[in-house]
Amino acid sequence: QDDLFKNVVSHAKEYGFIFPSSEVYDGLSAVYDYAQNGVELKKNIREYWWAAMVQLHDNIVGLDAAILMHPTTWKASGHVDAFNDPLIDNKDSKKRYRADVLIEDYCEKLQQKANKEIEKAKARFGDAFDEQTFITTNARVVEYLEKKKAILQRMAKSLDAGELDDVKALIEELEIADPDTGSKNWTEVRQFNLMFGTKLGASAENAMDLYLRPETAQGIFVNFLNVQKSGRMKIPFGIAQTGKAFRNEIVARQFIFRMREFEQMEMQFFVKPGDEMKWYEYWKETRLNWHLSLGLGREKYRFHDHEKLAHYANAAADIEFEFPFGFKELEGIHSRTDFDLKAHEQYSGRKMQYFDAEENKNYTPYVVETSVGLDRMFLAIFATALTEETLEDGSTRTVLRLPSVLAPTKVAVLPLVKKDGLPELAKSICDDLRWETTVAYDEKDAVGRRYRRQDALGTPFCVTVDHQSLEDQTVTIRHRDSMQQERVKIVDLAGIIHSATSM
Ligand code: GAP
Repeated sequence: QDDLFKNVVSHAKEYGFIFPSSEVYDGLSAVYDYAQNGVELKKNIREYWWAAMVQLHDNIVGLDAAILMHPTTWKASGHVDAFNDPLIDNKDSKKRYRADVLIEDYCEKLQQKANKEIEKAKARFGDAFDEQTFITTNARVVEYLEKKKAILQRMAKSLDAGELDDVKALIEELEIADPDTGSKNWTEVRQFNLMFGTKLGASAENAMDLYLRPETAQGIFVNFLNVQKSGRMKIPFGIAQTGKAFRNEIVARQFIFRMREFEQMEMQFFVKPGDEMKWYEYWKETRLNWHLSLGLGREKYRFHDHEKLAHYANAAADIEFEFPFGFKELEGIHSRTDFDLKAHEQYSGRKMQYFDAEENKNYTPYVVETSVGLDRMFLAIFATALTEETLEDGSTRTVLRLPSVLAPTKVAVLPLVKKDGLPELAKSICDDLRWETTVAYDEKDAVGRRYRRQDALGTPFCVTVDHQSLEDQTVTIRHRDSMQQERVKIVDLAGIIHSATSM
């Protein structure tokens, strides 16, 4: 698993998808740059989302709100007071950790112990093994899992009640050690706000404290009536937006899974109060289907319904994805009630109500939100697509099996040799195709090596121009996944590629 993940990170760098930010200065932790191929893949994921949400729904419109917002926004949304992580320092190493993550890591170890018992029993009993029964009846497994559950419940209760001393006591009682030094010498637990602060204005006295937005959603809430009125929108309707969000994450690991600067794709769906559960179920199913349409496999996804709800929600679920380091949150679907609109009404003193002409009354709509991280989508797709294959002749190839619609380059055009007029014909084919799709031209190295390079970049098609092409205006087209080749007319290329790679 670890090796697989290392492979993902190094492939992303070697093939021009993702670089560490400001790498010449040794990088900036949890901040990354998207390189020439990464930027195309990321753009294609964003467009795939936008098409499904905005283009295909006549009651959903787009928005591009500013990253900087009036600071009262974050007071109203609850982020100033409640967007915190509990931190603890180790007195000896002076290193800082998230207290809840230390406890979760400990619980992960209990889970691993349970898994080991299960694996051992599986090997011993073979086909007759019934995992579910074993988990509920084997004394050791039951003990590990119940202990884990009890610890997590105690932590959640203490955090909810703001009893940070109890969280510290739990860390000490469990004898959790500093992962780097093994020291158990901990400080008090403190709350740390995750928003990045900045200043607006030149003079020190008059400067206004601002925040970089920690979610895009609030830009939608404060514009709710502007959009509704100018677009003559009728409830139910949605507003969708993609854009950067910033969080001063303490635990920065797992590559682009948890970043300090990242991109969200969010949609707020405004509904009549009382209708929210119907729409919540609708959006859970609709969003899962969107993920499934990419063809990464049903078994890679699962729902996680939240038992513990955020202060603004009356129902919430995550769509989890099986990343190389296990199942983790990919997207959140939240029924946010009228919390945000009411809060902005209260703080701004402006009415944020909708006039329902059919019912002839005003009300504050309820909101169902879908929120997915673009970078997390990128990681999910990229890590799943990256495969090492052993071919019939025993050799191996690395192939990035990206969904064709998302591939950065759809077709590479390769002259078989660098002479006899083949490069000229290949370049003229490129020039024609460029108007239809994304094209690469490559004449360096033997053609087999060029195929392998395009496989590693995820290019679904390679077109090879050979001597026969000069005579009959045909070329071979090679399919990335099957490596099958067929001979087609040059004039048919654009149509073939377009139909296989468009949404
Ligand atoms: N408006 C709701 C909201 O922001 P969230 O669960 O905090 O909810 C939504 O974030 C999604 O944004 C997550 O499911 C995840 O995909 C992405 N996300 C959140 N924090 C992230 C981070 N530090 N790095 C990358 N993606 C992140």
